[in-house]
Amino acid sequence: MPNPNAPLGVFDSGVGGLSVWREIVRRLPHESTLYFADQAHVPYGPRPPAEVNDYAKGITRFLSDQGAKLIVVACNTASGAALHTLRATFPNIPFVGMEPAVKPAAERTRSGVIGVIATPATFQAALFQRLVERFASQVRLETQICPGLVHAVETGALDTPETEALLRRYLTPLLEAGIDHLVLGCTHYPFLSNAIAQIAGPGVTLVDPAPAVARQVERVLTQRGLQAEENHTPRHIFYTSGDPATLANMARALVGYKGPTRPVAWERGTTEDSTRETTEGFPYSASKYGRRRA
Ligand code: DGL
Repeated sequence: MPNPNAPLGVFDSGVGGLSVWREIVRRLPHESTLYFADQAHVPYGPRPPAEVNDYAKGITRFLSDQGAKLIVVACNTASGAALHTLRATFPNIPFVGMEPAVKPAAERTRSGVIGVIATPATFQAALFQRLVERFASQVRLETQICPGLVHAVETGALDTPETEALLRRYLTPLLEAGIDHLVLGCTHYPFLSNAIAQIAGPGVTLVDPAPAVARQVERVLTQRGLQAEENHTPRHIFYTSGDPATLANMARALVGYKGPTRPVAWERGTTEDSTRETTEGFPYSASKYGRRRA
């Protein structure tokens, strides 16, 4: 039985998952968290699912080794590519994943047209196809990939003329099609909500699944008796496979995080690695700098 005061693990390709992290911390203020930004590999969206799957497994192994009691895949792309295999590979870890919020948008639309913006990999995933079949048969769905937006958020270019131009290019066809709900199908996009709302106007409701994900985390913790105790002082640690100083700046700017940011090294599987139990079957493993294997 895991310690209920153990941290929640949360991961994404980069800082996008912080839009989910902030909802989790708001809703569950006693919970400690470990956040992993795989900034060595951002963006995930254009990568083949098998590659994203490998990263997701390596990150899960790392977070689990650091004591995570539950893992939130705060990334639509990684959820689509890997959630299924993560659950099969780590049957003892509870996972909460993400999917574009097509269901609530389809239930609430009045115009009958909803827009979804997400990465190419998210649209190609079987998870998205199932969502469309189950919930969107009665509505018109307008989908749009948005190359460059993840990079804009990663570099803090939230309201530059270049980002605005990109958004106009991507949103115009959706607006012309008559959408009244826009599903933010990538966890980076909520950080562009202001700019998106300005272009989309008051007639379009933005749908961000982050609050629903936080509620689901709470449900799973309660079902399993894993909630942190009320007197537990939460501790948050952020890890990145990129540059910790860059993550520190962005995390502070985006969600006011002032805690530690630590580097993690990716190691490609070697003969040496493959003899280690923790990396068995994993082409990549993540390990903290300064804590090399014996
Ligand atoms: N934030 C991620 C998502 O929700 C991944 C974006 C990317 O790295 O391409 O899809």
